[in-house]
Amino acid sequence: MSAGFDLSAWSTDRLARVEQALSLWVPEGAPAGLGGAMRYAVLDGGKRLRPLLVMAAAEALASDAANEQRAQIHAAALRSACAVELIHAYSLVHDDLPCMDNDVLRRGKPTVHVAYGEAMALLAGDALQALAFELLTPDDGSIPPAIQAKLCRLLARAAGFDGMAGGQAIDLASVGVALTEGELSTMHRLKTGALLQGSVMMGLASADAPALAQQALATYGAAVGLAFQVVDDILDVTADSATLGKTAGKDAAQDKPTYVSLLGLPAASAYAQKLLTQALDALAGSGLSNTLALHALANMVVNRSH
Ligand code: IPE
Ligand code: IPE
Ligand code: MG
Ligand code: MG
Ligand code: MG
Repeated sequence: MSAGFDLSAWSTDRLARVEQALSLWVPEGAPAGLGGAMRYAVLDGGKRLRPLLVMAAAEALASDAANEQRAQIHAAALRSACAVELIHAYSLVHDDLPCMDNDVLRRGKPTVHVAYGEAMALLAGDALQALAFELLTPDDGSIPPAIQAKLCRLLARAAGFDGMAGGQAIDLASVGVALTEGELSTMHRLKTGALLQGSVMMGLASADAPALAQQALATYGAAVGLAFQVVDDILDVTADSATLGKTAGKDAAQDKPTYVSLLGLPAASAYAQKLLTQALDALAGSGLSNTLALHALANMVVNRSH
């Protein structure tokens, strides 16, 4: 179905806008070196999968929307794309701290706390999180207040106690613990899946979307979100640090429960493929006419090499 769709060309075009906006909005001049640490954490790195999911969902919505709604959809999508990436970057900065995963390599560079110290890494994460919500609430009339509120709510839910932060708490509590498949799925859905699903739903929230599309894309986002962390678990075992831009083999070294430790590699890979099928089935039933980018992104999540 995505035959002929050029994901690389599509992504390059969208990411040019996202990179330019991030560079503009993440302030160089924040006090006492904070701006440098924030920019180091966010710019020049990462696959930018979450922004791409926002843009792909927004474009699916825009294709079926009235002409006069399109400018609003695109304005909200660009701000949402940057906001989710800021939350994601903050989560990585904190995930890498010595009190969490204690990692020294991220996106092919020394982690923020290695480069700037632990206190500055903590503050850079805090400031990135706050900036995400500031970006979603412009006072220039480009996004109606009700849509701003909806976007803030979706992002807060995805990042908070029942999303990323909650999942990270489970992750830390699970070191050396043999989780059941259900428990592992909950941990992964929260720590990683929620923000990916939230990205899709934010793309769709930039104007009123049909209920059928919302339901279908929620299912798509949940499946892609879980698949993403299953594949992250797999790559931790199968890829090297240079390819990943982060330290490989960390999960086993730190005795973290993963889909690989629970199921073994072949079954974990098969499960990721099963989740891909679930995602694509949901997409096919969304009633949206332009889903090629969402289709290609789901494929990329499951079949990626880094
Ligand atoms: C890494 O996310 C952390 C997880 C949630 C597994 P990504 O693999 O998307 O990291 P970047 O943004 O490309 O660096
Ligand atoms: C991190 O999961 C999820 C986050 C919320 C940041 P991991 O700890 O597996 O991510 P990596 O492997 O360090 O990128
Ligand atoms: Mg972690
Ligand atoms: Mg980690
Ligand atoms: Mg990992």
